[in-house]
Parts: sequence; C-alpha cells; structure tokens
Amino acid sequence: MLTIEKLQIWMIALQATYHENKQYLTDLDAAIGDADHGINMDRGYTAVKKNIETTEHKDIGSLLKTTAMTLISSVGGASGPLYGTFFLRASTVCMGKTELTDAEFVAMFKVGLHGIVQRGKANLADKTMVDALTPALEAMTQALENGATLTDILQAGTDAAEQGMQQTIPMLAKKGRASYLGERSIGHQDPGATSAYLMLKTALDSWGE
Ligand SMILES: Nc1ncnc2c1ncn2[C@@H]1O[C@H](COP(=O)(O)OP(=O)(O)OP(=O)(O)O)[C@@H](O)[C@H]1O
Ligand SMILES: [Mg+2]
Repeated sequence: MLTIEKLQIWMIALQATYHENKQYLTDLDAAIGDADHGINMDRGYTAVKKNIETTEHKDIGSLLKTTAMTLISSVGGASGPLYGTFFLRASTVCMGKTELTDAEFVAMFKVGLHGIVQRGKANLADKTMVDALTPALEAMTQALENGATLTDILQAGTDAAEQGMQQTIPMLAKKGRASYLGERSIGHQDPGATSAYLMLKTALDSWGE
C-alpha cells in the first residue's frame, strides 16, 4: 500500500536523485540536445520539494496535481510539460485517495504515460523518455498480474526502464531537438529516457524493502 507520505518521500528523493545526476543528464543532453536536461530536472524537483515542504496535501490527487503544475511552470523545455502531463493525468485517478494499492499505482502510471504519449506524440523507438517508460509499464503490469510484491513490481519496472534506456543508444532521434541531428543522434543515450529510468529507480530505492 502506498500512502501519501510514501509518495512525498519519493518526490523528495527525486530531488536528490536529479541533483546528484544533474551533470550526467546535462552531459547526455550536450551530445544530442542543448545541454540543459539535468539543469531542468534539478530545477523542477527542487521546486516540487519546496512545495511539499510548505503545503499540506490532503489527498494524493492534490499532491500529484500540484507537482504537475510545479513541473510545468518551473522546468521549461520539452521535458517539463511532458513530465507535468504525466503527473496531471495521474492525479485524475487519485482524487480523494490517501493511499494506493499496487494495482492503483500501476494504473496511475499507465494513465500518466498515456498522457505523455498523447502530448508528445512520440512512437516507440523515436529515442525519447517513452522508450524507457513503456517497457517499465509493461513489466510492472506483468509483475502485478503474477502477484508480485510492490518491491518486485518496482524492480521489474526499473530493470525494464534501464534496458529501454540503453536501447535508445543505437536509435535515430525522431522527436525534439535531438531529431535535428538526424544520423548524428545515433550512438548516444537519450537524456529523457535516462531521467525516466531514474524516476523508477528512485521509487524502488524509496519504497522497496
Ligand atoms: N515529443 C516528445 N515526446 C516524448 N519525449 C520527448 C519529446 N521531445 C523530447 N522528449 C524528451 O525530452 C528530453 C529532452 O528534455 P530537455 O529537458 O532537455 O528539454 P528540451 O531541451 O526542450 O528538449 P528537446 O530539445 O528534446 O525539445 C529528450 O531527451 C526526450 O527524451
Ligand atoms: Mg535539452
């Protein structure tokens, strides 16, 4: 069972994760983008953390909605609205809830990812965050159906996201700034797929046992 406190712990841990990986994500973005992804994610989650520390959220829907608005307004670039959309859509299935079952968490993730795909219109193998999030959702759905514990569900999601992230290396970018490079985008790991993997890894580290 995921309580609102656990979700807040995850969000705060994400700030630490993106802060620690700021240079790494920015270096990845320097190769195929404009060298700001680490800066964007660090700025966004610093604002999210501040919001959590100063606002009392009575339900998960409100927490996720505020997180979404904070990311949209503070991150900028392509990734802010996309991760913002993830949490905005996710919030719609969490209104009035103060805890989520494992199935509700996976359902929330699914709704959030659909929001990213609808907004960004990325297909699989376009070399984006979708290439890490989609296999993560599939693995978590499968693990849930197999009756796995939350830790095992998150482990499956994290492993699949990591693989998806690595698989972006040989891909040719079709979305965002990286797509302007055409063939030259090949051979580099996508920064957004990397931040998406870190999102799952941080959930595992925050909630796993
Ligand atoms: N249409 C899209 N759908 C899904 N993800 C996308 C899309 N466009 C970009 N991304 C993701 O956003 C990441 C870049 O995020 P960043 O924070 O650097 O914003 P940005 O510099 O405005 O992005 P970009 O230059 O790619 O438009 C990419 O690595 C990719 O994973
Ligand atoms: Mg960028």
